[in-house]
Amino acid sequence: MPKRLHLGWFMNFTPDEWNKPFAAGGQPWTGGFYIDMARAMERACFDYIMLEDTLMISEAYGESSKAYLRHAIMCPKHDPAPIAALLGASTKHLGIVATMSTMAYPPFMLARLCSTLDNICQGRFGWNIVTSGENLAAQNFGMDELPPRQQRYDMADEFVDLVCQLWDSWDKDAVVLDRETDTYADYRKVRPINFKGKFYKCRGPLNCAPSPQGRPAFVQAGGSPRGRQFAAETADSIIAPSAGVAGLKAYRDDVRARAAAAGRNPDDIKVLFVVAPVLGETEAEARAKFDRITASPLYIEKVLASISSITDIDFAQFDLDRELPRLTTNGEQGSLDAFAQWGSGKTLRQLALDQVSRGLDGLVGTPDQVADRMGEVMEQVGGDGFLITRPFTTLISRQYILEICEGLVPALQRRGLARTEYTKSTLRETLREF
Ligand SMILES: Cc1cc2nc3c(=O)[nH]c(=O)nc-3n(C[C@H](O)[C@H](O)[C@H](O)COP(=O)(O)O)c2cc1C
Repeated sequence: MPKRLHLGWFMNFTPDEWNKPFAAGGQPWTGGFYIDMARAMERACFDYIMLEDTLMISEAYGESSKAYLRHAIMCPKHDPAPIAALLGASTKHLGIVATMSTMAYPPFMLARLCSTLDNICQGRFGWNIVTSGENLAAQNFGMDELPPRQQRYDMADEFVDLVCQLWDSWDKDAVVLDRETDTYADYRKVRPINFKGKFYKCRGPLNCAPSPQGRPAFVQAGGSPRGRQFAAETADSIIAPSAGVAGLKAYRDDVRARAAAAGRNPDDIKVLFVVAPVLGETEAEARAKFDRITASPLYIEKVLASISSITDIDFAQFDLDRELPRLTTNGEQGSLDAFAQWGSGKTLRQLALDQVSRGLDGLVGTPDQVADRMGEVMEQVGGDGFLITRPFTTLISRQYILEICEGLVPALQRRGLARTEYTKSTLRETLREF
């Protein structure tokens, strides 16, 4: 019996595919489209859907918001917290993960929001812990620029410590609901935390009732050594860009070793790699689809605008037909490294063309072909699964969701590679089921 994979879905709360023949959308803000999407994921037994988020309209590419607004790249982007509530209330088993930045929320507000969402989701809520990576986002929160990465993660360490203390400020048996004595909660089991750290101060206790998981499941995507350390110490699931099979294995081995060194069981962390399969009824049909994506005259601009946005580097300044100079960023270093394939000798144009497959080849074909390849890759890497998203520069459509959930996932299930039913009630238990 092959080792089963965990599947997550990487969801951008941005417009759906409004401009293509098989697309009726463009106005997703009521959430209806995303409810359909979450239900499709649940029928396919995904572990979770992850709602990505950033907190600005980028001007990184060409020093202008033009590309972002014109092509709806990373914007408009609505708030993931209310959509998480809606999706949680519209599903029964699927994990619902929302991204919230430690830069943007006061810890008390985040602890209360997560607790409320975990109650609404009945124990299936997860928090994707990010520290934000863009100066423009920092400027929306009263700062002139983003603090350096080291400090952002030092703050995140303290932030997580504080919110965990708030979640623990109610004992598990604090709510007694005793009609005889008219007692809702035992006041002796709810305590202030009196937290005084380097960056944050908070009295507590939390003023909402404990949630089924106590604290949400933690998802994280650290890419830099500092970020990986944070992820290894905190996360129940780590999400990472794909950078070739050897890169996947090295990344997973590294975060597992860090987790073990921090006294954790590495098997308690499920590492999911981002992939964007391109599917067809035949291999030729899938290849033709793939070629259509890269042949779009706007393809390169859209890729470069996206990568500019998450790295705060203006990729409009580089010659498309030359190699990139070595670059570093205070933004998403891991995503930059995965994109740039340092030392490969590829030109910027080639790097952009590689982006459709998001760093892992062989995922263009029929559902059976792609399922075989996914199984093969996981065998080489050792686990744990994939975070599926739409091919770069395309927007999400019902058609693509259908291809994944009714084509690829059943092909994985036929091979014993994917879950066919949910057996646990909380997201953390679902992640630890195998
Ligand atoms: C799959 C994936 C999803 C991510 N989602 C978000 C997100 O929604 N919001 C955000 O601000 N950062 C997001 N990030 C960025 C990470 O939180 C992290 O900053 C990044 O991977 C770089 O790692 P570093 O912070 O260690 O440099 C994501 C990264 C990856 C790989």
